[in-house]
Amino acid sequence: MEQTKFLLEESQLPRRWYNVAADMPSPPQPVLHPGTGEPIGPDDLAPLFPMALIQQEVSEQPEIAIPEEILDIYRLWRPTPLYRAHRLEQAVGTRSRIFYKYEGVSPAGSHKPNTAVAQAYYNKQEGRTRLSTETGAGQWGSALAFACKLIGLECKVYMVRISYDQKPFRRSMIQLWGAEIVASPSSDTQSGRAILDEFPDTPGSLGIAISEAVEDAAQRDDTSYSLGSVLNHVLLHQTVIGQEAIAQMELAGAFPDVVVGCVGGGSNFAGLAFPFIREKIAGREIDVLACEPAACPTLTRGVYAYDFGDTSKLTPLVAMHTLGHDFVPAPIHAGGLRYHGVAPLISQLVKDDLVRAEAYLQNDVFASAIQFANSEGIIPAPESSHAIHGALAAAREAEEAGEQRTILFNLSGHGHFDMAAYDNYLAGKLEDVALDEAEIGRALHAIEGLPTPA
Ligand SMILES: Cc1ncc(COP(=O)(O)O)c(C=O)c1O
Repeated sequence: MEQTKFLLEESQLPRRWYNVAADMPSPPQPVLHPGTGEPIGPDDLAPLFPMALIQQEVSEQPEIAIPEEILDIYRLWRPTPLYRAHRLEQAVGTRSRIFYKYEGVSPAGSHKPNTAVAQAYYNKQEGRTRLSTETGAGQWGSALAFACKLIGLECKVYMVRISYDQKPFRRSMIQLWGAEIVASPSSDTQSGRAILDEFPDTPGSLGIAISEAVEDAAQRDDTSYSLGSVLNHVLLHQTVIGQEAIAQMELAGAFPDVVVGCVGGGSNFAGLAFPFIREKIAGREIDVLACEPAACPTLTRGVYAYDFGDTSKLTPLVAMHTLGHDFVPAPIHAGGLRYHGVAPLISQLVKDDLVRAEAYLQNDVFASAIQFANSEGIIPAPESSHAIHGALAAAREAEEAGEQRTILFNLSGHGHFDMAAYDNYLAGKLEDVALDEAEIGRALHAIEGLPTPA
């Protein structure tokens, strides 16, 4: 009998986060002040973030201890299970072994609470009483609402308009956990009002919602801004995923040849992949694959440049793969992957050839999601389904090469609030968006004149 689930005891929960910046072959590029173009220091970020998170953002330590109070909350759902996908392997007829780490068992249904709890904790420690944030698909907003409720903070969520309309129950969840929520762009902020004046029918974007949440936090002493992805400290908090996965793969007597994750801002991908990239930098051979939507192909068709994290140019400038800060991706159903940039740490690793990327059309991704649901049972989030699709592509490549490979992917969340998307797919109503070169060229005009990375 071959084992299906590989489980760890609560006592085996990782007690440290892993900081890939300490091991990367090229040092991260400095973050620049949006006004002066000069490198910024911790004090510049203090109006937006608590000092503990700023220190993690710039840390060069390879490991950072996880406070006991955070571990205590993590224990509600961590360690998460690792599965061997026997039935999926049979369904697709591969000789490769496919494993997946399942983050959908968290209360909010994704990996996002791993950082939400940590961020809420450090903010509370430093006396903030309220957090503002953006959310795309609603996974991050619900995770932060949950974390704020448990830690005892107020929370305001700016939810990208298209997702606000597509996903009413994510909205309800956020309200149930006590947070305030508005559709973005909203009339609550200067940035939101300016965009509404110009584009009253915009579906919104993460870039716009980030502008609103940053503005909200910058104007109030009691409020910090909280971001669900992209920043170094967010990726750091997610590394419990990969550390657990290494221990669980050991239980399975295996080590992956291929590690796969979907990339929006990059946090779930980093969470699984960084602890494996540590091994790769130390000399182990691993193919690390980042999967993104063809409608928002930041890593595969964007440029590596300094850009703003938001549409209204309120954030510092970071060196990353970007499609330009005013790029508004088509309203595809993987709302959490509709972001113009990608985490600087991941961008740097792509540039240094430690990570490769592929982009997929949403109908192909949904076909893989259905194949997964029909064999493994779990209904995956559309975002996570990009990783399923990538893992199946890796299995096909192994077959073509006549090899058996061990493939591990991150199933970052369940799709229980994405049923409207599945309905559309099953009714044949999902549109594939082929982004043309002209639109990419237009959007990239927005970064002309900004500093270029060294
Ligand atoms: C389930 C799920 N996976 C992945 C993502 C993408 O975010 P990230 O790239 O930060 O993991 C999201 C974002 O909302 C999500 O909800």
